[in-house]
Amino acid sequence: MPLSERIKRIKPSPTLAMNAKALSMRAAGIDVISFGVGEPDFDTPKHIREEAVRAMEEGFTRYTAVGGIPELKDAIIEKFRRDNNLTYERDEIMVSCGGKHVLYNLAQALLNPGDEVIIPAPYWVSYPPIVILAGAEPVIVQTTEAEDFKLSPESLEAAITPRTKLLILNSPSNPTGSVYTQSELEALAEVILRHNIWVVSDEIYEKLIFDDRPFYSIAQVGEAVKSKAFIVNGLSKSYAMTGWRIGYVAGAREIIAGMTKIQSQSTSNPNSIAQRAAVSALNGPQNSIQAMVQAFDERRKYLVQRLNAMPGVHCNVPGGAFYAFPNFSYYFKGKKEGAPIKGSAELCEYLLTEARVALVPGIAFGDEKFVRFSYATGLEAIKEGLNRIEEALHKLV
Ligand SMILES: Cc1ncc(COP(=O)(O)O)c(C=O)c1O
Repeated sequence: MPLSERIKRIKPSPTLAMNAKALSMRAAGIDVISFGVGEPDFDTPKHIREEAVRAMEEGFTRYTAVGGIPELKDAIIEKFRRDNNLTYERDEIMVSCGGKHVLYNLAQALLNPGDEVIIPAPYWVSYPPIVILAGAEPVIVQTTEAEDFKLSPESLEAAITPRTKLLILNSPSNPTGSVYTQSELEALAEVILRHNIWVVSDEIYEKLIFDDRPFYSIAQVGEAVKSKAFIVNGLSKSYAMTGWRIGYVAGAREIIAGMTKIQSQSTSNPNSIAQRAAVSALNGPQNSIQAMVQAFDERRKYLVQRLNAMPGVHCNVPGGAFYAFPNFSYYFKGKKEGAPIKGSAELCEYLLTEARVALVPGIAFGDEKFVRFSYATGLEAIKEGLNRIEEALHKLV
């Protein structure tokens, strides 16, 4: 088939693929426990849904301004002021169809063929393909469990070349749950500024953070780094609004104008009704977030403690998001009906067939030794899933 070279270089999202596989097994009547999902298992809060109904009833069902309605841009500006002490103007803000779409538009507007983009691994699965689709080159920098999967200024500096255009940071991280501190971000900002590169800070899990840890954005380090930073955020995770498809970005107005041009020639505006609902989410009561964080926290503690009690497994304590990223490499030398399990994909295949548990292999996130657990599923399912995993792992040693 005459597929374009660009498309030949990328694969479908492995996390969505694993979810689809678990769903199809369930549809066939197999009782699969899924740790694969990347979305909160909560309903969108009622006042947000009600605003969507109101928008429809009022006939707010037509094209809107391409980069988002002014009321939503203002709600986003107010959110940045209130939560992050950051000041932006309307032409420095743009709304797209989810954080993923924001990142896609941004890569298209910022990157040229040959540009290098530094992506610390483990990374969210979509960063490398988004960079490749813009014709640029992902440069993967491996981080370690010992440094809590965080990029050090030394590793960043070592990866920079004259072709480096951009660094992508993600805090709290998918898949590791790691959260960068203020001083860690200050140290990275110093390198970013010295080499005059751009930085994308994906802060989509900002609100899902534990142990009263403060959230800090790299743009807060100072005006100089703020002018080189694109802050990406969205409604999907904080407000359980994955299906509504609203994400946003704040950053340099010239690039925002470029992104708006791309959006005007591709998707046009994000869904009008979802935009009205997003205004209500950002301006309305925030207590649904607290309730969600409390539930995630309880599951996180249980999951991490159980994982660390399994022979040979080690799991760092995630500080945010709803993922745990334990090291399962101990089992790679084990036997499955005579055939060795060589890596994370084979281990996940084994656990899916043997234990009826769906997980995402670490290789999808750029680190073969690990497996990603999403704990956006009820505590009872988590308990049962871990029991099954324990039993299946026992057969491997
Ligand atoms: C790190 C990260 N960034 C961005 C997104 C995009 O989310 P959405 O497109 O639903 O806003 C996700 C979703 O899984 C994510 O995990």
